[in-house]
Amino acid sequence: MNILAIETSCDETAAAVVSDGRKVISEEVYSQINIHKQYGGVVPEIASRSHIQKLPLVVGSVIDGAGGLDNINAVAVTYGPGLVGALLTGISYAKGLAYAAKKPLIPINHIMGHVCANYLTFAQLKPPFLCLIISGGHTELVDVQSYAAFKVLGRTRDDAVGEAIDKTARVLGLSYPGGPNLQLLAEDGDINAFRFPKCFKGAEHFDFSFSGLKTSVINQIRKMDKEKQIYSKQDIAASFLEIIAQTLTDKTFNALKTTDYNSIAVCGGVSANKQIREKFKNLANEREIDLYFPKLEYCTDNAAMIGSAAYYIYKQGITAHYDLNARPILEIDNLCNF
Ligand code: KG4
Ligand code: ZN
Repeated sequence: MNILAIETSCDETAAAVVSDGRKVISEEVYSQINIHKQYGGVVPEIASRSHIQKLPLVVGSVIDGAGGLDNINAVAVTYGPGLVGALLTGISYAKGLAYAAKKPLIPINHIMGHVCANYLTFAQLKPPFLCLIISGGHTELVDVQSYAAFKVLGRTRDDAVGEAIDKTARVLGLSYPGGPNLQLLAEDGDINAFRFPKCFKGAEHFDFSFSGLKTSVINQIRKMDKEKQIYSKQDIAASFLEIIAQTLTDKTFNALKTTDYNSIAVCGGVSANKQIREKFKNLANEREIDLYFPKLEYCTDNAAMIGSAAYYIYKQGITAHYDLNARPILEIDNLCNF
């Protein structure tokens, strides 16, 4: 089954055609980063307008890449969570296309899409497994019980990890999005140079909190700037990412012990981070746990992951009507909330 998927939840205009949830036939991602960079973050209204401009080109190109609409069986679209205006552009486009081409319309939860990015990378990966979702908007530890059943074991109580990274990077003078630039800076830094606080250390639950850490790092930078101290931004970046990597691995490996699984998958934009990947790899090797990270291009937002998710949602018999609306706030354990 070939599904055409459309993703416009934030600042990437993306489309893909995916076969049987696993094989990417054609794909396009247009990133708006260069537009939003000058504002230091995503401007929702500009994002929506840019999606409207690029959608016909991006979608047209993947349809051509799949050999035309006749080779497509259904249209899938991200309906949440995300920026409401941005979501609506993709939803409206998908509805129009599904109606005109007489194809089913499949509503997809963006967070589930991130989980499915791993199915595109590892043909043998099957649920159940434990999944850590770390992106600009989400930080969640999820028990992936089956392709379409998720149980949230823990989530952030404040900032998402990517949000804390981007805000700290901005104070260090790095441009948006801060994550990749912070990674580069950290490569030459000492992970033990600064001691930043680790939140919920030793706690029984699997929730996260990153706003205290972010504030502590930002206060430290401002204090040193005010006192005109000479310090290494590389060391700050490396020490900050080290605490994040430790927090994420501690929670994930502890949560794994409460399941009878031997597999961990990590996904979302922040899973592209080298320091975090290394820490997970070392621990997984030590403990003989199977570890999965998506290919780098499937860590950040893309439509191929939405096309993968759509296959498993369609197999549950779930489709949407033409009154499908955007859900800016949507949980992964509520797949039929549309
Ligand atoms: O999944 P994503 O593309 O969008 C959301 O659904 O939020 O994630 C974007 C986030 C941003 O915070 C970005 O700074 C972060 O992922 N990110 C990284 C790296 N690449 C992207 N963070 C750390 N290291 C990276 N290499
Ligand atoms: Zn995302």
